[in-house]
Amino acid sequence: MINWNDFEEAVVSHLNRDISRQNNPNQNDAVRSSLNKPLFIVAGPGSGKTTVIALRVLKLIFVDDIDPSSILATTFTRKAAAELRSRILAWGDQLRHLFMLNPGYSHVRNQLRKINFNQIITGTLDNIAEEILGDYRAPGISSPLVIEDFVSNALMIRVGLFNRRRYDNRALKNFIAKLRGTSWGLNLSEISATIREVKDRFYHDQVNVSQFSNNANHPGIPILCDAINDYNLELQSRILFDFARLEQEFFRLSL
Ligand SMILES: Nc1ncnc2c1ncn2[C@@H]1O[C@H](COP(=O)(O)OP(=O)(O)OP(=O)(O)O)[C@@H](O)[C@H]1O
Ligand SMILES: [Mg+2]
Repeated sequence: MINWNDFEEAVVSHLNRDISRQNNPNQNDAVRSSLNKPLFIVAGPGSGKTTVIALRVLKLIFVDDIDPSSILATTFTRKAAAELRSRILAWGDQLRHLFMLNPGYSHVRNQLRKINFNQIITGTLDNIAEEILGDYRAPGISSPLVIEDFVSNALMIRVGLFNRRRYDNRALKNFIAKLRGTSWGLNLSEISATIREVKDRFYHDQVNVSQFSNNANHPGIPILCDAINDYNLELQSRILFDFARLEQEFFRLSL
């Protein structure tokens, strides 16, 4: 819709963000890079990452004609996600206003007017997963109920560790001490926290827990896997999701 050079010029002169090739080749490359190429950028704190992501989203819309509803922009914290969204919306409106006044773009004025920046999906991975799983759930299935970390911890202690008095199992304690590199301060809550870390890794790495348990090279591993299994069964039977399970389910359904 909008020519790249006009887009760049508007960003530099009206948003006062110098992304020109001469002065800022890295940001220029990142914002401009072609539509079908995956991009992986490593950049330090305060170096202009959020600026680049916001401008890139706007470039996709203005220059490449991408429908805002098909754009998903995510960050790690709610605060950063909110900041990203507000920058996209504010800059989007400013640029739109500018292009609509440009006689060279009178033929796309209607199209510009109709752009709905609000349709861009932003958020943390967890809240996007929660929202989309809720929106696209099968008929008769209730929205995922996501539990906070402290509830997950309490569940792990109750169903994972109190079951069969696992919290007192020597092999399990030895293995946890080995994972942590020390047995110092190994109380119930530390044991639970470590098991929950392993559980999250199992989810992220798509580990087959029973296979992992069968091939264990430490007597504590099968006990740890049993605790994780009991915890997972409890989540399933109560239709609860912790953050790791939520991401896993989102990933599974998106395949
Ligand atoms: N090309 C640019 N021209 C002018 N100012 C810029 C440019 N890029 C970034 N800035 C400014 O530099 C500051 C830091 O930018 P930004 O917030 O995008 O960085 P960040 O890498 O996301 O930071 P953080 O690590 O804190 O999240 C902001 O005030 C931003 O407006
Ligand atoms: Mg940032």
